[in-house]
Amino acid sequence: MTSDKDHLQRALDLAAKGIGLVSPNPLVGCVIVSGDGEVVGEGTYFKDEVIHAEAIALQQAGERARGGTAFVSLEPHGHHGKTPPCTEALINAGIKRIVCPIEDPNPLVSGKGFARLREAGIEVSVGPLADEAAKLNEKFICWHTKGRPFVHLKLAMSLDGRISLKKSVSTALSGDAARYRVQQLRHEHDAILVGSNTAVTDNPSLTDRSGLPRLRPLARIILDNRLRLPLDSILATTTEEASTIVFTNCIDPESIARLTDKGVNVIPVEGGARNIVGVLEELKKLEIQSVLIEGGTEVAGAAIESGVVDKVTFILSPIIIGGHDAPVAIGGKGVESLAEATRLKDLEITRYGEDIEITGYTSS
Ligand SMILES: NC(=O)c1ccc[n+]([C@@H]2O[C@H](COP(=O)([O-])OP(=O)(O)OC[C@H]3O[C@@H](n4cnc5c(N)ncnc54)[C@H](OP(=O)(O)O)[C@@H]3O)[C@@H](O)[C@H]2O)c1
Repeated sequence: MTSDKDHLQRALDLAAKGIGLVSPNPLVGCVIVSGDGEVVGEGTYFKDEVIHAEAIALQQAGERARGGTAFVSLEPHGHHGKTPPCTEALINAGIKRIVCPIEDPNPLVSGKGFARLREAGIEVSVGPLADEAAKLNEKFICWHTKGRPFVHLKLAMSLDGRISLKKSVSTALSGDAARYRVQQLRHEHDAILVGSNTAVTDNPSLTDRSGLPRLRPLARIILDNRLRLPLDSILATTTEEASTIVFTNCIDPESIARLTDKGVNVIPVEGGARNIVGVLEELKKLEIQSVLIEGGTEVAGAAIESGVVDKVTFILSPIIIGGHDAPVAIGGKGVESLAEATRLKDLEITRYGEDIEITGYTSS
C-alpha cells in the first residue's frame, strides 16, 4: 500500500518540476488521493500559469476529491492574493485530511492556512519529510526568514585546494559530468556572481546551459570597483540575452556610460562592491532570490568572511597543482583558531565522473 510519505514524496517531486520557473515564489506540488486510496489528481505550480498546484490537482480530481486526502509540499495559502485562497478550494472540494511537511515561511501565510483548514474541520498533519521540503524551498525560506537572497558558493578545485594554475590564467579543472552538474546548479539560481579578476581573466559567459526551461534569464553579476569589465568581453556584449549587472563604487560618469551604452546595468553601492551585504540588499530590490557565487579567491574569501554564505559546493578533481603561485580557493584574512573556522553540516558527497562534489551548509 502506498504510504503517506510516498504520496508526500511525489508532491515534493512534482514541486521540483518548478525549479527555474517560480522564483521569487515557492515551489509547490500537490497530490490528491481519493477516500479509497487512488491518486486522482496531481499539480505543480508554475509562476507564469498563475494557477496553484492545489487548484490544478483538485480540478483533475473533480468529485473524487470529496472525502479524500491532499498531500501538499508547503502550507496552502489562506489569503487573497493574485489567486483565490487554496485553503477555500480544498475546503469546498470536500477534502477530509491534509498532509503537509512545513509551514510557509511567508509571514502573510505562515500558520494561517493550517488554522483555516482546521477551523473548517479538516484533519491537518504537519511534519513528515520536513527536512526534505525545507531543502527544496531553501531559497524561498531564506528570502522570508533572513530577508535576503540565498547565497551558494561554488568552486572547482584541485585536491590541494587550488582553483587555477595562476591568478591571471583561466583553468578548466573539472571533467564533463561535473561541468554539466555546474549548469544544473546555475539553473537553480536567479543570479551568478564573480569578482572582476575572474571576469577579466576568464572572459566567461556565465549562462545557464543546462537545457532546462527557466522563466527569467540568469542575471550575471560582477563585483568591479574599478570598472575593469572589458567592453568587448562576452558579459558586456551579450546583455540582450541576459542581464549583466556591475556593482561598483566608481562614480566616474564616462566609465559608467561606456558600460551602460553596452546595456550593462551599473549599480553604485555604498561602501562599494566590497560591501557584500549592501550588494545583497540591492539584489533583493531586483527580486533576485538566490545567488550562485563562482569565485574567484578574493570574492569567495570576502563572502565567507561576511557571513552571508548559506551553502557551499566544492568540486574536487583528482589532480595536485602545488607551488606558491596557484591561487587557493578561499582568500581573505582566514581565521586564528579552528573554533572560528566555517564548519559545514548536512554534508552530501557525490561523484561526477572522476570528480567529487562536496556540498554542505554553513550556520549563517
Ligand atoms: N576554479 C574555480 O571554480 C574558479 C572560479 C572563478 C575564478 N577562478 C580563478 O580565480 C582567479 C581569480 O581570482 P581572484 O581572487 O584573483 O579574483 P576575483 O575574486 O575574481 O576578483 C577579485 C577582485 O574583485 C573585486 N571586488 C569587488 N568587490 C569585491 C569583494 N566584495 N570581495 C573581493 N573582491 C571584490 C576586487 O577588485 P576591485 O576592488 O577593483 O573591484 C578584487 O581585486 C582566476 O585565475 C580565475 O580563473 C577559478
